[in-house]
Amino acid sequence: MEPATPTPRARISVCVNPASRPDARDGCGALEGPDVYEALRREVAKRGLGREVWITRTWCLGICPDRGCTVEVAPGGGLYREVEPSDAGVLVERAVEIVRGAAVPALDGSSGHVGDGGTTE
Ligand code: FES
Repeated sequence: MEPATPTPRARISVCVNPASRPDARDGCGALEGPDVYEALRREVAKRGLGREVWITRTWCLGICPDRGCTVEVAPGGGLYREVEPSDAGVLVERAVEIVRGAAVPALDGSSGHVGDGGTTE
């Protein structure tokens, strides 16, 4: 095994877990996960960032929301729950900050939620 440097400079992983959670509620895949994934792909394509920012699907990230889905921006961009498709622009902007090597401050340390209406502060 060798350490590796990823081709994309930033990665946004979207939970699309379709399975029922242990508490018998729907996973992100039955909520907004697939729609958030598609919204992020469209946002990255619109900005021409396909080589720098990758959008990937993943299974449970351990913070199962009641609405939206859970998303991780890596490396170092944070973990967010209750993400809606309308949050795609904010999340891609966080990935752009990583690509540019900028410091990535916490969006909202209290909840980890990206915010309603696309606001970040
Ligand atoms: S089902 Fe998505 S974080 Fe658990």
